[in-house]
Amino acid sequence: MRFLSVNIFQHTNLLFIRSFMIMLLSFIAIQLNLSFSNIPSSLTTIDVDGHFSFTNNEFAAKDYGNQYQFLPLAVLHPKSVSDIAITVRHVWELGPSSELTVAARGHGHSIQGQAQAHGGVVINMESLKTPKMRFQIGDVPYVDVSGGELWINILLESLKYGLTPKSWTDYLHLTVGGTLSNAGISGQAFRHGPQISNVHQLEVVTGKGEVVTCSLQQNADLFTGVLGGLGQYGIITRARISLEPAAQMVKWIRVLYSDFSTFTRDQEQLISSEKTFDYIEGLILVNRTGLLNNWRSSFNPKDDDQDSQIKSEGRTLFCLELAKNFNPDKIIETNEEIESMLSKLNYIPSTLFMTEVSYVEFLDRVHAAEVKLQENGLWDVPHPWLNLLIPRSKIHKFADEVFGNILVDTSNGPVLVYPVNKSKWNNMTSAVLPEDNVFYLVAFLSQANPLSTGKDGLEHILSLNKRIVAFCEEARLGVKQYLPHYATQDEWRAHFGQQWETFQRRKFAYDPLAILAPGQRIFQKGVLDL
Ligand SMILES: Cc1cc2nc3c(=O)[nH]c(=O)nc-3n(C[C@H](O)[C@H](O)[C@H](O)COP(=O)(O)OP(=O)(O)OC[C@H]3O[C@@H](n4cnc5c(N)ncnc54)[C@H](O)[C@@H]3O)c2cc1C
Ligand SMILES: *[C@@H]1O[C@H](CO)[C@@H](O)[C@H](O)[C@H]1NC(C)=O
Ligand SMILES: *[C@@H]1O[C@H](CO)[C@@H](O)[C@H](O)[C@H]1NC(C)=O
Ligand SMILES: *[C@@H]1O[C@H](CO)[C@@H](O)[C@H](O)[C@H]1NC(C)=O
Repeated sequence: MRFLSVNIFQHTNLLFIRSFMIMLLSFIAIQLNLSFSNIPSSLTTIDVDGHFSFTNNEFAAKDYGNQYQFLPLAVLHPKSVSDIAITVRHVWELGPSSELTVAARGHGHSIQGQAQAHGGVVINMESLKTPKMRFQIGDVPYVDVSGGELWINILLESLKYGLTPKSWTDYLHLTVGGTLSNAGISGQAFRHGPQISNVHQLEVVTGKGEVVTCSLQQNADLFTGVLGGLGQYGIITRARISLEPAAQMVKWIRVLYSDFSTFTRDQEQLISSEKTFDYIEGLILVNRTGLLNNWRSSFNPKDDDQDSQIKSEGRTLFCLELAKNFNPDKIIETNEEIESMLSKLNYIPSTLFMTEVSYVEFLDRVHAAEVKLQENGLWDVPHPWLNLLIPRSKIHKFADEVFGNILVDTSNGPVLVYPVNKSKWNNMTSAVLPEDNVFYLVAFLSQANPLSTGKDGLEHILSLNKRIVAFCEEARLGVKQYLPHYATQDEWRAHFGQQWETFQRRKFAYDPLAILAPGQRIFQKGVLDL
C-alpha cells in the first residue's frame, strides 16, 4: 500500500513533471514560433543583395542634433533598389496591425530624430551605390545619382567633366535624399532656387514598395510631393540633378554693417539685380568681439588681426557674405565687376575682407570647420538648431525683438540671415513657405555644451528657441519653420496651413499605412485619420 502509494505518488509526480515539461517546451516553442513569425525574424527571410543587421545598430539611433535616441529593430544595408522595394513591400504586407515602420537614413544630420525608426527598420541609404553616377553632357547637362549619394561626391565627380550642380547647402556631407526631402537652401537659392528646384527626375520607392519614376511630365503629383515631402511619400533611390559649367575659383567677400535696415536693403538689392554675385548670405554678430577676430582669421589666415578696432562688444553687427565665381583668365574683368557691384553697397568701408579660394574649397568650407571641431571633440555635441522662414514684410519686426532683445549674444553659434525670392520655387512641392514673394531664412545654428547648465547649456538654448517661436506666434508674423519639428498633429496642420489637405491626400495615396519616415512624427503607423 505504502509502496503503491509511493509508486502512485512517483507516477503522478512524473506525470506532473512530464506534462510540465511538455507545457514548458510548447511554451518555449510558442515563444520561438512567435518570434519567428515575429518581426525581426520575418525580416531574416527576405532575400536581399545587401544585408540586414540586428545588432550594433546604435549609430542609427543617433543624429547631428544629439537629443533623440531611438533604437531600430534592424538596419538594412541595401545594395540595390530592389532591396529597398522588397523590404518596404514586406512591411506593407504585414498590414496595419504590425507596428513596424521604415526610415531612410541619409547622413543622419537631422536635428530631432527625423531619420530614426523606434523599433522599426532603418535603411542606411549611403550603402546604396547604384546607379553609378552617370553624366549627360551637352546643352542641358545633368547627372543621375543614388539617393544615398553625398553632395561632396557629386561635386568632385562633376568637376571631372567641368560641370557642377547649381544649388547647394552650406555643408556638403549630406545626402541627396536627405536635402531633397527638405529643400536645400543656401546662398545660391536666390538665383537658382533651392535644390528641389534643380531636379529633373526622381526614382522613388513608395510606402507600398512600388518603384516609380517621376518628373514634372510623368507622375507629377508624386514628384512634386516627394520634393520637400519630409520622406512621407517614398524613399528617393535615384535623382537626376541639373548641372552647369563650373568655374575654377571663387572671390569670397565679407563686409560689415551696423544698421539692420541698410544691411537688408543691400541684400535685397543684390538678390534682385541682373548683374550680381553667385552667392549671397549674411549673419548677425551680437556682442562677439572674440568671434569676430576668430572669424577673420579663420576666413583669411594671412590677415592676422590687423584691424582689431572692429568690435561688436555690447552691440550688434551684420555681416554680408558674398561670393563670385571666376576663371583665372578672366581675373581683370572679375575684379572690375566686383568693384562695380560693391560700389553700390553701403557697408562700413573699413570692413571689407576679400579672399580667393578654389571652387571646391569655397563650397566645402564648413567641412574644414568640422575637422577642427572634431579634433576638439566639439562636433558630437547637442545641436538645438532653429531654422525660420520670415516674410520680408515682417523681418524688421522680427529683428527688433529677436536680435534686439531675446538674443543677448551669438556665442552659441552662428545666426544666418538672408533673403530668397519665392519665384524660383515650384509652388506644387511639399515645401512650406511664408506668404510674401520674398522671405528671409534665419538660422540659429547653436551648439550646446553637454556639461553646462548655464548660458551655453542645452536647456537654456532650447528655452531661447521657445521664446523666439512664441514671439513669432504672438506677433502673428506668418513665420514658417524650415526643417520643421512638432509634437502634435494639430501643430503640423497649422504648419501646413492650406497645404495640409494636399499633404494628407498624398500620404493616403503613396503611403496609406504610414510606414515611412516615422521620425517626423506627422502620422502614426496604421492610423491615417482622413
Ligand atoms: C552642418 C549642417 C549644415 C547644414 N546646412 C544646411 C543648409 O545650408 N541648407 C539646408 O537646406 N539644410 C542644411 N542642413 C540641414 C540638412 O539639409 C538636413 O538636415 C538634411 O535632412 C540632412 O541630410 P541627411 O542626408 O543627413 O538626412 P537625414 O538626417 O538622414 O534624413 C532627413 C530626413 O529625410 C529622410 N530621408 C533621408 N534619405 C531619404 C531618401 N533617400 N528618401 C526619402 N527620405 C529620405 C529621413 O527619413 C529623414 O526624415 C544642414 C545640416 C547640417 C548638419
Ligand atoms: C522676385 O522675383 C520676381 C519675379 O522674377 C520679381 O518680379 C521681383 O522683383 C523679385 N523681387 C526681389 C526683391 O528680388
Ligand atoms: C558682452 O560681452 C561681454 C564679455 O563677453 C560682457 O561682459 C558684457 O556684459 C556683454 N554685454 C551685453 C550687453 O550683453
Ligand atoms: C501656383 O502657381 C501657379 C502659376 O503661378 C498658379 O496658377 C497656381 O494657382 C499656384 N498654385 C498654388 C497651389 O498656389
